[in-house]
Amino acid sequence: MTSVDRRIEVAPSLLAADFGRLADEIKRAEDAGADRLHVDVMDGHFVPNITIGPFIVEAIKRNASVPLDVHLMIADPMAYLGPFADAGADYLTFHQEVVDDPRETADAFRAKGVHPGISANPETSVEMVLEVLDAVDQVLIMTVHPGFGGQEFITENVDKVRRVREAGRPELHIAVDGGINEETARVVCSAGADVLVAGTFLFKSDDMAATLARLRRACALPAK
Ligand code: DX5
Ligand code: ZN
Repeated sequence: MTSVDRRIEVAPSLLAADFGRLADEIKRAEDAGADRLHVDVMDGHFVPNITIGPFIVEAIKRNASVPLDVHLMIADPMAYLGPFADAGADYLTFHQEVVDDPRETADAFRAKGVHPGISANPETSVEMVLEVLDAVDQVLIMTVHPGFGGQEFITENVDKVRRVREAGRPELHIAVDGGINEETARVVCSAGADVLVAGTFLFKSDDMAATLARLRRACALPAK
């Protein structure tokens, strides 16, 4: 599979949605062509922010028709595997920075019926991720510091995408999370990413369908 024939999936990040109108925002994203919904779980320990727990994930699931891509920015992912799997997570991604044995964690996630994902922070090397590529279905490369939406893309992380794509099997998903817009989408897609997580760029646009289509188009073109 080359970067040209790889299907790009767009995952709007609900962090940028209006939580007072969550069901409407889910519908807006799906009507715009979302392939998945990205759900950011933050515990106030691994990251300074606190967002949502399994109870809200379950409510999102009830209102969604596309898969849920749940990103655990929490200090103890194993402790919450059961609740998030039961709440309806399809992809469930933990951070390599908080686990001693990422293979054991990925295997436990898979045994619970979710697609395991592993994520690396901008300042973390990707070596540990490379060792467990056969055990996960997705690698999530952070291109901002986790915790908040609306930050600027950190370009130095693009090389990690390239390294994972070269080392991983063709069907492995490589998601990129943080600061994704038309320009950065083009760069990460040409490096081998196939899942674009985008919060601010999509939810703050007046016409999400047109904006999402622009992201897809950006990935069909070679990087400048
Ligand atoms: C940040 C989250 C991201 C965030 C991205 O910690 O993991 O998913 O929502 O937001 P934008 O697209 O605004 O950078
Ligand atoms: Zn995220």
